[in-house]
Amino acid sequence: MNPELDKLHPYPFEKLSALKSAVTPNPELEHIALSIGEPKHKAPAFVMQELQQQLSGVSAYPLTKGISELRQAITDWLTQRFNLPADSLNPEQHVIPVNGTREALFAFAQAVVDRDKNPLIVMPNPFYQIYEGAAYLSGAEPYYINTTSDNNYLPDFDSISDEAWAGCQLLYICSPGNPTGAVIDKATLQKLINLAEQHDFIIASDECYSEIYFDESNPPVGLLEAAAEMGKTDYSRCVVFHSLSKRSNLPGLRSGFVAGDKDILAKFLKYRTYHGCAMPLHHQKASIKAWQDEKHVEENRALYQKKFTDVLEILEPVLDVKKPGASFYLWADLSLKTNFTDEDFAQKLFAEQNISVLPGSYLSREANGINPGNQHVRMALVASYDECIEAAQRIRRFLES
Ligand SMILES: Cc1ncc(COP(=O)(O)O)c(C=O)c1O
Repeated sequence: MNPELDKLHPYPFEKLSALKSAVTPNPELEHIALSIGEPKHKAPAFVMQELQQQLSGVSAYPLTKGISELRQAITDWLTQRFNLPADSLNPEQHVIPVNGTREALFAFAQAVVDRDKNPLIVMPNPFYQIYEGAAYLSGAEPYYINTTSDNNYLPDFDSISDEAWAGCQLLYICSPGNPTGAVIDKATLQKLINLAEQHDFIIASDECYSEIYFDESNPPVGLLEAAAEMGKTDYSRCVVFHSLSKRSNLPGLRSGFVAGDKDILAKFLKYRTYHGCAMPLHHQKASIKAWQDEKHVEENRALYQKKFTDVLEILEPVLDVKKPGASFYLWADLSLKTNFTDEDFAQKLFAEQNISVLPGSYLSREANGINPGNQHVRMALVASYDECIEAAQRIRRFLES
């Protein structure tokens, strides 16, 4: 067997199940899950309809590269959303559909890392665990950059030594961030683009939460946008990952895309052809409809906006918790207003109030002497408005008792 498999950590939800199995939840209360980032808002009806109408797509083998209409719809969306110069993206060269960003984020490292050169993959800490697994299985070592309240939960890229940058072959960034909701600004992205050129590494920018934000006049900036504003419309060393899972409440459609540097994508496409991960034709057709519509995305944001406003009003007096820059997560710091560890909080809250939240330390590793997930919990406000309010009231009761 591949020895790197032994380096993989159990997934955070396996650890959470074990933690919860040691207690019995209050049987008088319905369970509310704030633990998983799985959107529960309705999938758009027009996408479902298209999916049904295109079911005959099951009779054909889809191409890895996807159909040109989908790549065009994605190109149009990217160009419009991130103010890219017209025609700077060619749908034939700069875009590949993927079966959700999870597989793509993982596969990308397998395709781009040169395992013979002691590779490092730099990533935020806490992080989406796929980055770490992708690093191990590609033969690289993960290099964690702590994100703490001292830095507004953003990675401190200045803390990375030249030696580490020299070994870095791939940098994962996640903006808006999971679990912190922090948004990396344009100046920082541009600094990273310059560093990537200087030290010859690739930036994989996970932007799957980019459409869940609260200020309609100020959407999160993207890596391609930052590159284009520097005049780098070849998007050299830049690759972005986007998804319909959160934007359009379609986590089961398994539909996203990667876009950016055409030379990297040509190699990635070659890799993917062998990996065998083409998107079914009917999913591609349904995805076109989703990328072509913004109305349902605006409605989706309005629902999150209302949930965040009302949930925070209930929680702020008892918990150190703030509205994130974007995303649908609350990243609560337990260290100021409570004495709980993150595991204790999650376990007791489950036992007393039948609510699941994710301990922060399940999403992070110890680095530079600290584990930045300690004494934090992640709460995903994905359930219905009523459930989120009910959950907030129960958490408040739990903390006040
Ligand atoms: C940061 C981050 N990236 C990527 C994904 C994967 O999403 P999908 O594969 O549904 O596109 C998730 C899912 O929760 C995530 O939180």
